[in-house]
Amino acid sequence: MQNDKLHSYIEGLIPERNSLFMEMERFAVENKVPIMELAGIETMLQILRIQKADKILEVGTAIGYSALRMAEALPESTIVTIERDVERIQFAEQFLMRSGRGEQIHLIKGDALEVEELVRRQAPYDVIFIDAAKGQYKRFFELYAKYLSDDGLIITDNVLFKGLVAETEIDSKRIRNLVKKIDDFNHWLMNHPDYNTVILPVGDGVAVSKKKR
Ligand SMILES: C[S@@+](CC[C@H](N)C(=O)[O-])C[C@H]1O[C@@H](n2cnc3c(N)ncnc32)[C@H](O)[C@@H]1O
Repeated sequence: MQNDKLHSYIEGLIPERNSLFMEMERFAVENKVPIMELAGIETMLQILRIQKADKILEVGTAIGYSALRMAEALPESTIVTIERDVERIQFAEQFLMRSGRGEQIHLIKGDALEVEELVRRQAPYDVIFIDAAKGQYKRFFELYAKYLSDDGLIITDNVLFKGLVAETEIDSKRIRNLVKKIDDFNHWLMNHPDYNTVILPVGDGVAVSKKKR
């Protein structure tokens, strides 16, 4: 309860976004597109500013909301972003075109597990942001971590999955399996020998992994 109040308080303090972003946020609600939660994305953008990321790889574009927010927060950066859903790709392309930031964002159309060659061509990346199929996080991480720059960060969204990772009783078998995959990923990530990871309980849970030097 207290947390919900604080969450609403923090969200209420976040200034309105520009009209295109507000339209995308409404579009996402109306069409059930799971874009990153507001407090989560604001946290991530601040980390990216501190990191001064020039090149970012995003796994999971959806309609291009987070890609465009990153491009606006870091106007000198290039974002390479991957999406496999044909309909979402079309919406993303329209929003990118309207934003006037299309040049900054390279949209790779296809399954993230099958487009490694295209991703490799633009490596290394200062930040890799994983926000696609939750059951596949470990595979995305393992596939693309090799293209991270030496000082790079890997940011993973939804690692607390609406708090369900801390629940012991979940009725739906499908959700229970997904929660187990996320929980396994979190344990694996927190104990990864090559990364220091912290899980921030903002938005849907954001893991920030810093490559050890
Ligand atoms: C949570 S949404 C991304 C939201 C976006 N990052 C934002 O905050 O605006 C996840 C997206 O990842 C896509 N996706 C899931 N698995 C994928 C895969 N293996 N390859 C490419 N895209 C994938 C889904 O189609 C979906 O649009």
